[in-house]
Amino acid sequence: MRLLKCSLFIAILLNSAFHSLLVNSVRCSGTPASILLAQRWAKTECKASNLIGNPACNLEQWTLHGLWPDNVKVIDPVPLPGDFFNRFENYENIMRTEWTFLGIADQNTYITETTTFWKHEWTKHGYCAKDFIGSDEPKIYFQKALELYRGANLLRHLASKGIEPNDTTTYQTHQIRDVFLADKPYVRPIVNCRRMGNKYYLSEIIICLNQNLKPVNCGTGDTNVCPEGAITYPRT
Ligand SMILES: *[C@@H]1O[C@H](CO)[C@@H](O)[C@H](O)[C@H]1NC(C)=O
Repeated sequence: MRLLKCSLFIAILLNSAFHSLLVNSVRCSGTPASILLAQRWAKTECKASNLIGNPACNLEQWTLHGLWPDNVKVIDPVPLPGDFFNRFENYENIMRTEWTFLGIADQNTYITETTTFWKHEWTKHGYCAKDFIGSDEPKIYFQKALELYRGANLLRHLASKGIEPNDTTTYQTHQIRDVFLADKPYVRPIVNCRRMGNKYYLSEIIICLNQNLKPVNCGTGDTNVCPEGAITYPRT
């Protein structure tokens, strides 16, 4: 009887130790050096994927793709709370103009699909960005990403250096990178393109930020990088 009590006690002890291990389990692995602010040029995505009909294709501005800590693997994904969107002010407008889903052509399911896209961004990147954001609250993550996106104002920033959307002119990839040269300190962004036929179109610019959310040089490795040569920044 004594033995039984004792082993029962040990079992309970082990069980609670195991439970607290689960509760405090590692949800994200890796130590990110920077966080990536990725913005897309919808005109290019719309040409590349035949998304005409998606309201984002009419946008004359860059749209947020995401805010992603680098080198992080999600081990135990944290879902977005079910009532998140009820509590996120003005989200439908933001989804139409600033942080849009560029994967569908259908206007009717556009907002629904974009909420799925946001859920994915939170699960895959948002929670694990908590050390950069200083919070594991989804609302704060999304607001911070939007604040960084608005602060970057890529359309105006590029235009201030003479890089404007134009269907007939081409730019050199280094001209796009060099726009950020004038920023102090100089930071190298990632410039991505999509190839259509034998032409390359500017599709995405990624700015890398440090723990203080200040720009730093990006690494050079990424997919869809633009060639060192002529690229189009399409107006339509
Ligand atoms: C496109 O670039 C060409 C050559 O620089 C220029 O003449 C034209 O006005 C530009 N078009 C627009 C819409 O800015």
